[in-house]
Amino acid sequence: MSVIEQSSSPTTNHAVDPAPWWRQAVVYQIYPRSFADANGDGLGDIPGITSKADYLQGLGIDAVWLSPFYPSELADGGYDVADYRNVDPRLGTLGDFDEMVDALHDRDIKVVVDIVPNHTSDQHAWFQEALAAGRGSAARQRYIFREGTGQDGSQPPTDWESIFGGPAWEQVADGQWYLHNFAVEQPDLNWACPEVRADFVKTLHFWSDRGVDGFRIDVAHMLTKDLTEPLPSSAELRLIPMDGQHPMVDRDDVHDVYAEWRLVFNSYDPPRTAVAEAWVDKARVPRYASPEGLGQAFNFDLLQADFDADQFENVVRENLQLARVSGSSSTWVLSNHDVTRHATRYGLPHPPREPNGLPAIKHGLEWILSGGESPELDRHSGERRARAATLFMLGLPGSSYLYQGEELGLHEVADIPDSARQDPTFFRSGGVDLGRDGCRVPLPWTESPDTAFGFGEGGSHLPQPDWFSGYAASGQDCDTGSSLSLYRRALQLRRALQTGEQLEWIDSGRADVLRFRRPNGWEVVTNFGTEPYELDRADVLVSTREVTDGTLPGESTAWLASDPV
Ligand code: GLC
Repeated sequence: MSVIEQSSSPTTNHAVDPAPWWRQAVVYQIYPRSFADANGDGLGDIPGITSKADYLQGLGIDAVWLSPFYPSELADGGYDVADYRNVDPRLGTLGDFDEMVDALHDRDIKVVVDIVPNHTSDQHAWFQEALAAGRGSAARQRYIFREGTGQDGSQPPTDWESIFGGPAWEQVADGQWYLHNFAVEQPDLNWACPEVRADFVKTLHFWSDRGVDGFRIDVAHMLTKDLTEPLPSSAELRLIPMDGQHPMVDRDDVHDVYAEWRLVFNSYDPPRTAVAEAWVDKARVPRYASPEGLGQAFNFDLLQADFDADQFENVVRENLQLARVSGSSSTWVLSNHDVTRHATRYGLPHPPREPNGLPAIKHGLEWILSGGESPELDRHSGERRARAATLFMLGLPGSSYLYQGEELGLHEVADIPDSARQDPTFFRSGGVDLGRDGCRVPLPWTESPDTAFGFGEGGSHLPQPDWFSGYAASGQDCDTGSSLSLYRRALQLRRALQTGEQLEWIDSGRADVLRFRRPNGWEVVTNFGTEPYELDRADVLVSTREVTDGTLPGESTAWLASDPV
């Protein structure tokens, strides 16, 4: 028996536009420093993005999301923001930003920017002021400063560990300690301080006034904290339930912040959108995604699943259910700037998992000896599966987030020399964790290594491997069998096919084949196994491997439709 799943109904406060653009958008994530370098200094920049506006339009995406491009010392790839209302001079100017927004808007592409509210850079004027002002000052109230323990206060206030490894407290010259849940250079802000709240509202207005359409909220679940003394030890902290009252994570009172932000978003026409990066218990995700809150939340479940029919089906069922609860649409992600690219993940033999359930970002990479050349990595199977998973994802109701370079079928770059690595997770773990640089290597636009594969005249800030040549956009442009052509075709079709948000499962007759129908007879069939699958229809619109005589090969997806598109 087939069951129709309605993801949820669009919110009702948009009388003119019953389905806001973001509900079923394809959003392309740009990591600006690694996208395209227009001024030849080895770092990607804003004019570089503008120069690729036609490429982005040709790809067929609805929006771009820019990872931070703000002034930053780059202690964490730009997620250490020194000034929230400016552009890093190495990446351009506010004028360049406005030109980019115009170029993208002219091509019907919306712009989403990243807001990093949990912490600033230690170079932020506020933190510098806090250091100079000393203990007890109002400037220190904007951050989380505490006295140390031990006889002379030389020990940190607690034994907490930062998420990037190593202690979560750092001592300053006058002896006080500050909390940093991420790198030392990323002091946590104190969200109990009204000035902090007011300043972020100002930032949201600043970018909204410049025409930005939406925001991606970094670490959205950690802003508010209850650090009343005595502070628990890390062992005690781990035992505290995450029920909204945890001292540090996913507190109920964080939603007061987002309720205030919602008023800002809704003061614009059309309302600005937001999506939460919230690593919280599933049952608690809908609150972040509610129309009174941020409006949408990332679901990282596909990104954490193996290429497996059962796992994919469960992820879809569960998340469509959560979307019904929140009234939002679901989000789907296979790759981003924090994880190993999915072409590589799927080519590794059962990568082990992190304790937090994330895919094997680090250990899996140890198996790749040379950027995908190791016998451990089945590069071709990885690519086949990646295409099949992508076409499956793009067939789902809700919005899909793509990460730059995945349209080229790019693999992770595993063999970056230690001396060239940049990610703090590599350094803070003493090199045990290879970190996230491998998915942040500048894109290959052309086949020749001369201009850093077309990235820019000034080389590349992370070394590009020789095999990038075979993945260059230029080489794929006119090749109808390329990954790039597949993405273009799929996105073009999706625009034509996407109507309602229903999904109806169809019994495929095979445990390793998933099949579902969308409104107007659009069908998505994914063969997760290796045995060919007989389709009972011949009307294939697009497929990741060739369908001959109605036979869908293993590790592939096909879209079918009864009506011509
Ligand atoms: C988010 C970002 C990640 C960053 C961290 C700290 O998880 O995605 O790249 O390192 O927040 O800001």
